[in-house]
Amino acid sequence: MKKNIGSQLALYPMPVTVVGAMNGDKPTWTLVAHVGIIGHDRVLVSLAEPHFINSLIKKNKKLSINIVDENILPQADYVGSTSGAKTDKSGVFDYTTGDGGTPIINKAPLCLECSVIDIYKTPNFESFICSIDGTYVEEEHLTEDNKVNYRTLKPVLFEFPTYEYLKTGDVIGKCLSFKDKGEKQ
Ligand SMILES: Cc1cc2nc3c(=O)[nH]c(=O)nc-3n(C[C@H](O)[C@H](O)[C@H](O)COP(=O)(O)O)c2cc1C
Repeated sequence: MKKNIGSQLALYPMPVTVVGAMNGDKPTWTLVAHVGIIGHDRVLVSLAEPHFINSLIKKNKKLSINIVDENILPQADYVGSTSGAKTDKSGVFDYTTGDGGTPIINKAPLCLECSVIDIYKTPNFESFICSIDGTYVEEEHLTEDNKVNYRTLKPVLFEFPTYEYLKTGDVIGKCLSFKDKGEKQ
């Protein structure tokens, strides 16, 4: 038996990221778990409108999305605890400027450089719809044919209801390898 618990944001767990944007010649960082994929060539970053980073993203029309693994979780958690409006967060991560001018966290295993092409507004939120200009991956997490190896790259996951971080688990099989046993008899 299932119980209907109403309208809930229940699509968890999802990967947690640090979004970066330039503030003049310094970066600023914000922890963002509500990111998504649209179609096959767009990603979405959903930010509360009052956040410090929003105006910089709107000014530059550029942002970076840095995947968080356990190595950078303490710093990532910190940039989710305080606003750039109160605290200068520019020194929290060592970074390199990507080809598109966004700050790429040196210790993050994978970073997307993005251009903002649209903003979808909902009450109190701005969701930035972005194209992907570049994808920077630590070579240790690349396979020989330059695919990202998610068996080694382990993003930290997040879930809102209990406000906890989780780990990714084991590989359970290739996609479409179960279909022959799945057809309803
Ligand atoms: C685990 C976690 C996930 C978060 N995810 C989001 C998110 O998806 N969207 C958002 O707007 N804020 C999110 N936040 C809150 C911001 O990271 C936080 O308010 C931050 O201090 C805002 O920084 P800024 O004002 O410098 O931009 C999250 C915080 C935590 C701890």
